[in-house]
Amino acid sequence: MRLKSIRFLFIAMLLFSLLGCNKAQAPAAAADSQPHQWWQDAVFYELYPRSFADSNNNGIGDLNGITSKLDYLKELGVDAIWISPCFPSPQVDFGYDVSDYENIDPMYGTLADFDTLASEAKKRGIHIILDFVVNHTSDQHKWFLDSKSSKTSEHRDWYIWRDGKGPAEPPNNWTSTFGGSAWKFDPTTNQYYYHYFYAAQPDLNWRNPAVENAMLDVTRWWYKHGVSGFRLDAVDTLFEDPNLKDNPLVGGKNAFGDPIENEIYNKKLPEIHDVMKKLRSAADESNAVLIGETWTKNIDELKEYYGKHNDELQMPMDFLFTTVDKLSPAAFREQIASVNASGGWPVYVLGNHDKARSYNRYGDGKNNDAIAKLMAGFYLTLRGSPIMYYGEEIGMENNDPKRKEDVKDPIGITAWPKEKGRDGERTPMQWDGSANAGFSTAKPWLPVPPSYKTHNVADELKDPNSVLSFYKEVLKARHTNQALINGSYTPLNENDQNVLSYLRAYKDQAVLVALNMSGTEQKVNLGMSQHGFSSTKPLATSGKSSVNGDEVTLEPFGVFIGELSK
Ligand code: GLC
Repeated sequence: MRLKSIRFLFIAMLLFSLLGCNKAQAPAAAADSQPHQWWQDAVFYELYPRSFADSNNNGIGDLNGITSKLDYLKELGVDAIWISPCFPSPQVDFGYDVSDYENIDPMYGTLADFDTLASEAKKRGIHIILDFVVNHTSDQHKWFLDSKSSKTSEHRDWYIWRDGKGPAEPPNNWTSTFGGSAWKFDPTTNQYYYHYFYAAQPDLNWRNPAVENAMLDVTRWWYKHGVSGFRLDAVDTLFEDPNLKDNPLVGGKNAFGDPIENEIYNKKLPEIHDVMKKLRSAADESNAVLIGETWTKNIDELKEYYGKHNDELQMPMDFLFTTVDKLSPAAFREQIASVNASGGWPVYVLGNHDKARSYNRYGDGKNNDAIAKLMAGFYLTLRGSPIMYYGEEIGMENNDPKRKEDVKDPIGITAWPKEKGRDGERTPMQWDGSANAGFSTAKPWLPVPPSYKTHNVADELKDPNSVLSFYKEVLKARHTNQALINGSYTPLNENDQNVLSYLRAYKDQAVLVALNMSGTEQKVNLGMSQHGFSSTKPLATSGKSSVNGDEVTLEPFGVFIGELSK
């Protein structure tokens, strides 16, 4: 006990002196004093069901395919899977147009298949997170079909209907984020309905309490089916100004040729937070977690999503992190410091089904594997919960369509060639080097890129230097080392332009992380010996990165993650 407190004091002194001698500008984040909730220790993994694993060989992934890969995910170090929408849907936006919230699309299987997936996942300690499309439904949802049938129908006010401003003139100037006016005229009742996304995705009217009740009930229904939480889709656009004021134009046109607007009247309205609180209360009844698709302009906006009393989303995603699209230690330091200062639990992502793959975004074309390892060594060792994107762990690359006729994503079809759509980041998971990367014996719905021959699960599992082996090493360290699980975050050498380094410390344990974000070898002195540390046991290194006394040598884009000891 006494020895422990001396050691603790020692680490505290070390942190204090490191901060002092490095003239730290960014605040450190203290170690967590409260015991963690399950989702704070979890590594999340987003998978796109169409593209993960195809059990019935029709070219499209399915739930039984996911079940068959649970052992792989467990061994990788995944604790929770977020499945992009798998509910019945006309698939206009590949599932983000839901026509029944309480069922499974036959293309993906049945409710019984879901129950099997849930129970098999539970056996392995893997949580299931579903994607809840809260802003809109499909235009084929029975609520909308009834809504459009007459002005007096039961569900009329479940959506947003208005008269035009004049003949053939929509109610206001709002444009859809997927191109064109956000209003569609419906001749049955001679009114327009509002759709922030495609016309096939009418916005729900969250000002109607009946909508709110129905949607809260959907979450409770899935909690009973063993779901551990939701990723809430498109929360920013839940509410619109009831007076439908025109948005101010900021000048210029977007990829769809529409005037660019400042969306002050149809985005991020304060009423959103009342809904978040209600969804959270329902989640709390089941110890569930809410993850938010929260595209924010700054940390203050992100902070609001946690709720003033931490009573909204536990995990709003920090997309500002993904806007640091270059290997810049200074920009990353600043971003980490500001999210830590927000007081909420940080949620880091490198990519998802709407964003070009991190392998290409950060890669320089020559050292992409080393850079993929660098990014793994980085965001998986920060204080916060990471959300991986399927295939990132094997260095999957983006595979954008080359011709308009090959594009599947309607955004790409509408705005080609300015916008190629999101097919590139949604291609089939690369399981092995056989035809179609072992995803399916049928032609997959999207083509696999040629790199599947070198970047696939089966081959990378055999290679100790692969991207996959490195992910496994880092994830193992993350799950077993208390400093990485509960530790504080203290930035080191804050003026270094090439190496991002930091310390994670908890009680008498500490881990040093040093990441070379440059293409040249770097040697950094982190002055550990003056503070009583004589050795560092590597937990995960990439390249020939090593430590000698106080000096850490990092290969171009090399990573050193080591446990400090006396
Ligand atoms: C979210 C989804 C995106 C979808 C959109 C409309 O942004 O991530 O894929 O197209 O919502 O539901």
